[in-house]
Amino acid sequence: MDSSTTKVEHYDDSVVRQFTIMSVVWGVVGMLVGVFIAAQLAWPELNFGIPWLSYGRLRPLHTNAVIFAFGGCGLFATSYYVVQRTCQTRLFMPKLASFTFWAWQAVIVGAVISLPLGYTQSKEYAELEWPLDVLIAITWVSYAIVFFGTVGIRKVKHIYVANWFFGGFILTIALLHIVNSAAIPAGWMKSYSAYAGVQDAMVQWWYGHNAVGFYLTTAFLGMMYYFIPKQAGRPVYSYRLSIVHFWALIFTYMWAGPHHLHYTALPDWTQSVGMVFSLILLAPSWGGMINGIMTLSGAWHKLREDPILRFLIVSLSFYGMATFEGPMMSIKTVNALSHYTDWTIGHVHAGALGWVGLITMGSLYYMVPRLFGKEKMHSIKAIELHFWLATIGIVLYIAAMWIAGVMQGLMWRAVNADGTLTYTFVESVKASYPFYVIRFLGGVLYLGGMVIMAWNVWLTAISGRSVKIAVPTTVAHA
Ligand code: HEM
Ligand code: HEM
Repeated sequence: MDSSTTKVEHYDDSVVRQFTIMSVVWGVVGMLVGVFIAAQLAWPELNFGIPWLSYGRLRPLHTNAVIFAFGGCGLFATSYYVVQRTCQTRLFMPKLASFTFWAWQAVIVGAVISLPLGYTQSKEYAELEWPLDVLIAITWVSYAIVFFGTVGIRKVKHIYVANWFFGGFILTIALLHIVNSAAIPAGWMKSYSAYAGVQDAMVQWWYGHNAVGFYLTTAFLGMMYYFIPKQAGRPVYSYRLSIVHFWALIFTYMWAGPHHLHYTALPDWTQSVGMVFSLILLAPSWGGMINGIMTLSGAWHKLREDPILRFLIVSLSFYGMATFEGPMMSIKTVNALSHYTDWTIGHVHAGALGWVGLITMGSLYYMVPRLFGKEKMHSIKAIELHFWLATIGIVLYIAAMWIAGVMQGLMWRAVNADGTLTYTFVESVKASYPFYVIRFLGGVLYLGGMVIMAWNVWLTAISGRSVKIAVPTTVAHA
């Protein structure tokens, strides 16, 4: 490239900064609601008899806030950051990128208002009513245009693997959201699903499982493939493995949805297909985890002194844990015990708090000082404290749920010699009580860590300034 003819260009980082800050803000809000509903499960009087504070309305608010607001803003921020650096170009259509920010915040505010008011389509992770669904679809298509447009105008020949993961996530979520949300409106905040009966259930869990597979997994693997090598200062352990990882993962995930519908009216063979693909899924999942962790080989000592790297690497150990546990839970005989119990909730939060939460926090800690022209975060000690609060919180949360879940499953299936049930349902609820209190305490610790992060990010941001970073004019590997 002839550098004499190129004028200085700067990365479009304003939108990255906006999404970064909002990810932290929504993280605090979503986790606060999580802690509150955890408290309601231990002390139901906290419903206060007010409908919009009732557990059934706040639970979807929690899931939407942590997944789509905290996780979603984190993904917009990191993908816009990464795609520019790895393609060595500015964002394609920066105004459209700015539109995705404001439209996504509007969706979230719509959720914060409509869910407590009781408006819901009653589909898990797809609760929002149709006007908000339309806004999500418009935002998502705009996101795809900005992202793929940026890849299209890249100045390097190669498309770095993190972009494959982000791209796979963006395309699939568009498909899943549009198909699963197909509904017939019956008023401004009421609609009926376009599907009926068992088809509705199948479409919903095809969506639901792939929301886990492509949203909570593939997208965050995009973060892994950029931020771990960057923070560790080492190349990805095996680039070839990362490509095999990508194709194997996206091919397999698509078929695993029926494991959410074991022993239902869904045809038995479909359930078995779901189970088999879930078992196969262990291989690409662990391949990816090993690739991430081994990136540190030869530099393990960095884990001792670098708390940001610790966030990133420990997130992978929770990813490995959740992706070992998931295939086991998909085996029909195991699922007969785990389904409907808190074991599922323990599995979810090993993935959500351990994997999704920690990798996002580590990536944000990497970006924030760079986005605000600082050498490092305001307080490294606070990052250290955050790490320990989060880790202890996760262990308390998931250990309590595993014990409670297995106990519930065993109590429900215990029978006396005469064939009657050994325990009433309420006895299993009573036995779960101490574990609900431990989960609440784990949640308080995890939330405490997030509040410390918010403070640290705030002080870093206000003591810095919104820097303009020049796009390199010589083509180099990102
Ligand atoms: C302070 C941290 C958190 C606490 C205390 C918390 C608490 C809870 C509680 C009490 C439930 C309902 C469980 C039930 O119905 O029995 C729940 C559900 C859920 N949470 Fe969290 N949560 C936290 C953070 C997160 C994060 C960061 C994510 C995602 C990134 C997440 C994702 C979910 C999901 C997907 C469910 C639904 C699980 C299912 O339906 O099986 N949570 N959470
Ligand atoms: C190889 C990977 C995985 C497999 C095969 C798998 C499998 C499963 C199975 C069998 C269930 C229980 C379904 C039921 O009884 O209703 C489940 C629930 C769940 N898993 Fe995983 N899992 C995997 C990884 C993950 C990861 C990494 C996350 C990340 C956060 C995650 C999030 C969830 C959620 C949110 C649910 C609850 C869905 C609901 O009922 O609302 N899973 N998974």
